[in-house]
Amino acid sequence: MVDDQVSEFRVSTAAYRGEAMFEKELENIFYRTWIYLAHESEIANPGDFKSTQIGTRPVIVSRGRDGQIHAVLNACTHRGATICREEKGTTRAFVCPYHGWSFRPSGELIGIPDEARYPGGFNKADKNLKPLARVASYGGLIFGSFNADVEDLETFLGGAKQHIDIWLQRTAGSSYRVTTSHKYGYDGNWKFQSENVYDGYHPGFVHRSAFATVRKFEGSFENRELNAAVRQQGFTRGYPEGHGTLEAGAPLESGGIDPAIREAYEAKLKELYGEQGAAETLTNRQFLIFPNLVIFDFNIRVVQPITHDKTEVYSYPLMITGAHDDINSNRMLDAQTRVGTAGILSADDIDVFAGGQNALRAGGFDWITLSRGLDKEEVKACGERVGVYSDEVPQRAFWRKWKSLLSN
Ligand code: FES
Ligand code: FE
Repeated sequence: MVDDQVSEFRVSTAAYRGEAMFEKELENIFYRTWIYLAHESEIANPGDFKSTQIGTRPVIVSRGRDGQIHAVLNACTHRGATICREEKGTTRAFVCPYHGWSFRPSGELIGIPDEARYPGGFNKADKNLKPLARVASYGGLIFGSFNADVEDLETFLGGAKQHIDIWLQRTAGSSYRVTTSHKYGYDGNWKFQSENVYDGYHPGFVHRSAFATVRKFEGSFENRELNAAVRQQGFTRGYPEGHGTLEAGAPLESGGIDPAIREAYEAKLKELYGEQGAAETLTNRQFLIFPNLVIFDFNIRVVQPITHDKTEVYSYPLMITGAHDDINSNRMLDAQTRVGTAGILSADDIDVFAGGQNALRAGGFDWITLSRGLDKEEVKACGERVGVYSDEVPQRAFWRKWKSLLSN
């Protein structure tokens, strides 16, 4: 399905369609590796919880009374009802809506109504909500895994770790706070969205009208977006762990911040990380943590597969704790107007995904090609591959990892 030759890198169209293919991906990718669950700021205090999914399995991630992070299946151990129907909140206990069994946020079973009717010797100890095999976090990002033997999180993150570190530097020594998500869905395979985030080849075409519209009304988009239809400056990177980046090689900030506030922020970055470190911090980058977490400069995006041809996307604007209101409102504006539900970019992309799904479902052609820059990328000793902005380096990293997970 993934044909990695010297002069061509092709992927079978069958990799995007069918329930059987999707089930295989759930087993071999989503239930085997690390998957992002939440940002620590979403469950900052004891009793805080968020409901989410790994693959199609519903999961509750919460902070227990002990301050520890827990992740359990959102399925009642009595007869399987959904325990938590809220997206997020704070609670002392989850009470099952079906027959009233209650559980602590950590998943521990507290009470069974009219427990006396259960037989003597009934094992309550194994009726806690089923915990995930592993939970770990890095840089405020909480991941979970159903696989007890999964590699440790930092090994899994591999080459993406340095990009997380730079992304954290944008807080200028503070931390991120995630806000309520924007949501949208599309009738297409989840991988279309994952592959799109570091696609530097498409903006000058599919988003052309969006850029022209902003230019017309603001006249200020020139520095933010692509001047050439196909951009050569900047980088794409791919890692053996499947992660990849798109880096503009320059800042990509919108205007609207008082220059004095902006200067104070940049001065703080320089003080903390030096001239070069500050410049590197402000360079626009977006990256995918394989398979479905996207980190933007001002936003976290989660690509949630629903079925083989249905996907939901959650976009969480990221505020910087303690930063000047102008900085945060500007970040919010960027998140909303670019990649939020009503943003100028997402609508273009998801229209393309839906069209692609229609064509791939209909069949009649067997391969798509991801060969751009294949013989021009730099391959480093650590396995990192580097291309220019419009190359398909990160997509190939994604598919190599996909292939290795589905092959064994
Ligand atoms: Fe939850 Fe019965 S299914 S209490
Ligand atoms: Fe796009």
